[in-house]
Amino acid sequence: MLPAEWRLRRRILDVAQEAFEAYAYAPITTPTFEDTEVFVRGVGTSTDIVRKEMYTFADGERSITLRPEGTAPVARAFVQHGMHKLPLPVKLWYLAPMFRHEAPQAGRYREHYQLGAEAIGSHDPLLDAEVIALLADLYRRLEVPGVRLRVGSMGDAESREPYRVRLLEYLEPRAQDLGPDAGARMAENPMRLFDSKEPRVAEIMRGAPKLLDALSPDAEAHYRRALAGLDALGVAYEEDPLLVRGLDYYTHTVFEFTCDRLGAQSGIGGGGRYDGLVEALGGPPTPGVGFGTGVERITLALGEESESAPALDCYLAVLDEALRVELLPLLARLRAVGLRCESDLRGRSLKAMMRHAAALGARRVVIVGPRDHAAGAATVRDMASGDERTVPLDRLEDELT
Ligand code: HAM
Repeated sequence: MLPAEWRLRRRILDVAQEAFEAYAYAPITTPTFEDTEVFVRGVGTSTDIVRKEMYTFADGERSITLRPEGTAPVARAFVQHGMHKLPLPVKLWYLAPMFRHEAPQAGRYREHYQLGAEAIGSHDPLLDAEVIALLADLYRRLEVPGVRLRVGSMGDAESREPYRVRLLEYLEPRAQDLGPDAGARMAENPMRLFDSKEPRVAEIMRGAPKLLDALSPDAEAHYRRALAGLDALGVAYEEDPLLVRGLDYYTHTVFEFTCDRLGAQSGIGGGGRYDGLVEALGGPPTPGVGFGTGVERITLALGEESESAPALDCYLAVLDEALRVELLPLLARLRAVGLRCESDLRGRSLKAMMRHAAALGARRVVIVGPRDHAAGAATVRDMASGDERTVPLDRLEDELT
């Protein structure tokens, strides 16, 4: 990432941090790699991430994996640090690079950054609504255009087991048409087929029974209350019975934000509830809900690849080699009062320094020669008007701020 993109990213981060703080989230950083088991147990063996996208290495006897996603590591940290004893829900946010061995294209990279939020320790469906509203609020604060939200439910275990049987009853007579890859996935987790990009499989799945129509009374009540929360908060959404996320830990509410501006990789952020994850990682049964949003995709959606550098307040042009050392404290003084300053560090002539100052967009150039210095003064040139004034060296700060 080059400086111009960094500046845009910093703006995204500043806005995100403000939003996270408004919703009472605290920051967390987890290590770049984890024991591979954290992802195998957390994300699930039927997912593309675990089946083919992880960067996994042997570290002596241990198998480690570069973090492909942020939720399982945060849940692991929650367990390891006994956070269930803190006031619940524990609300954590992160910015971290994620690594997935995918085919790179615009908006899809093997290393991408995610801003994420995880709220762990409450079953309340209004927390689902709040988490979704936070992400909607973040896009609103950033003025991301053309954002849409789809919401669905993965139900609870009581909804999913009978549904799985019904889905398999529908799929088995069609197994021939699904092809070998889909056939293998059907055996492991038939719901993954809703995720398929193959037109033939997608066509078959459109006719399949939907989990949203087969929710248990509890799961249905949870889903309806989360939607009521979104309605109350004025967050616009579409219900999507085909919404299946690419990770196995989801239960109940799932959601995805897309952006019209993004083309093929239209997913800008998504998440959902994961009530079994903390327990799967060795903790006490503890529900959770959260989201992740790709920083590069936000950048693409904003349509500005870069933000120009802020102008320099002043450029110090020293006309004598010996004086350069003597005037180092002056430069430090100007910087200490918050001025953005640069000076020549290549031994340029005055003419070359003026060109350098102009190229850096300096508003003013402070010129000091041996005679000015002896008189305790400098010439301050305004680069826009060309006006020049003599200013005492000890009053430069007042003059320039
Ligand atoms: P995810 O949908 O896999 O969810 O990723 C979240 C977001 O990361 C996507 O919506 C997208 O913006 C971005 N993203 C994913 N893969 C790439 C890539 N290869 N290149 C660029 N951007 C990408 C998760 O990872 C879950 N951990 C989210 C979550 C948090 N669920 C609950 N809590």
